[in-house]
Amino acid sequence: MGIKTIASIVGARPQFIKAAPVSRALASDFKEVFIHTGQHYDHGMSEVFFTEMEMRPPDFNLGIGGGSHGEQTGKMLVELEKIFDNVKPDCVLVYGDTNSTLAGALAAAKAGIPLAHVEAGLRSYNRAMPEEVNRVLTDHVSSMLFCPTHAAVENLAKEGIVNGVHRVGDVMCDALLHNLANARARSKILRRLDLKAGEYSLATVHRAANTDDAERMRSILSGLGRLSTRVVFPVHPRTRKVIQEWGISAGSNVLMVEPVGYFDMLILQENADCILTDSGGVQKEAYLAGVRCITLREETEWVETVSGGWNKLVGANTNMIVDTYNTWHPQGERAPLYGDGHSAPQICKLISSTLG
Ligand code: UD1
Ligand code: UDP
Repeated sequence: MGIKTIASIVGARPQFIKAAPVSRALASDFKEVFIHTGQHYDHGMSEVFFTEMEMRPPDFNLGIGGGSHGEQTGKMLVELEKIFDNVKPDCVLVYGDTNSTLAGALAAAKAGIPLAHVEAGLRSYNRAMPEEVNRVLTDHVSSMLFCPTHAAVENLAKEGIVNGVHRVGDVMCDALLHNLANARARSKILRRLDLKAGEYSLATVHRAANTDDAERMRSILSGLGRLSTRVVFPVHPRTRKVIQEWGISAGSNVLMVEPVGYFDMLILQENADCILTDSGGVQKEAYLAGVRCITLREETEWVETVSGGWNKLVGANTNMIVDTYNTWHPQGERAPLYGDGHSAPQICKLISSTLG
């Protein structure tokens, strides 16, 4: 039997981070064709991750960034279909819940190619989120569903999906454990921004529910501005656009910087007193680092960080942001919710045994 070909599809910042450990694991058993849709394209949103994590450049970059959801997803679908036609992969691998994920899933399903979904089963139960639609649809056309958590397995079961479901832990934990030593050795971000460990907070905001609503954005920035600490805020390009457009100003304690690379982000996270975010990945990384997380949303897919006592959901409410920051100081053990850093090799083995 010849070596099998896996077509991996990435496009957005967190997907480069998730794919890095999986690609490393796949290298010994498979031929991997690595496809970047181009959904994220700025150097600081894409290339920096390939460089830092020493990933080989994508075999294809579709250059499909920007545009409406339908336009973006549709263009990706057209181009992916052509590539699948040429490459004839034995399996398509997608990550998370972005438009690149959905395009890859649909292209694979239409071409009758087995689909593997890393980060399957996550649910916010909020269908207004574009990501929720992407996840539900992707899970329902996947034949291998790699769940990071117990809750994810249960969510799938509620939708009648039980075959091909594997709880493998979280590949973001693999990525973090693999890169932390390098990040500590190389990142100069604390010195560059004149920050001391434990004496600043870190914020990120990019969810559509926040960035597409001027009131919510104002309310969040007002909350950050009222914290009695410096707040480092690496600003996603989408967020920078609306902050400028709506003329929203932040307090003088809020330091808005360009998006940072993964190494700098890991260091900013582990040394922060508090993390305020609407990011999925950052909520998990806060938990792994043992840093309290205030989530700027009404619900989360990472429910175990909340029930474990290290994450609080406050939405975009200024007073809740400030009060929670001032009064809430979680302590105690953190269960190893996301595995031990060996999720990627498990995924690789399971794909191997499923494809036969
Ligand atoms: C996307 C994902 C979201 C994920 C996030 C990770 C969807 C529906 N959303 O959201 O689930 O959490 O990525 O960061 O797939 N832009 C730039 N430069 C870039 C990238 C984006 O300027 O390198 C700007 C463009 O104006 C673009 C806008 O940001 O239109 C939004 O980008 P897009 O990829 O559509 O969505 P994100 O908000 O990044
Ligand atoms: N991240 C980064 N630089 C930043 C912001 C985030 O390297 O300026 C990393 C972060 O450490 C995490 C991932 O990007 O690993 C999270 O991606 P993002 O918040 O864009 O998307 P989400 O996880 O919400 O889908």
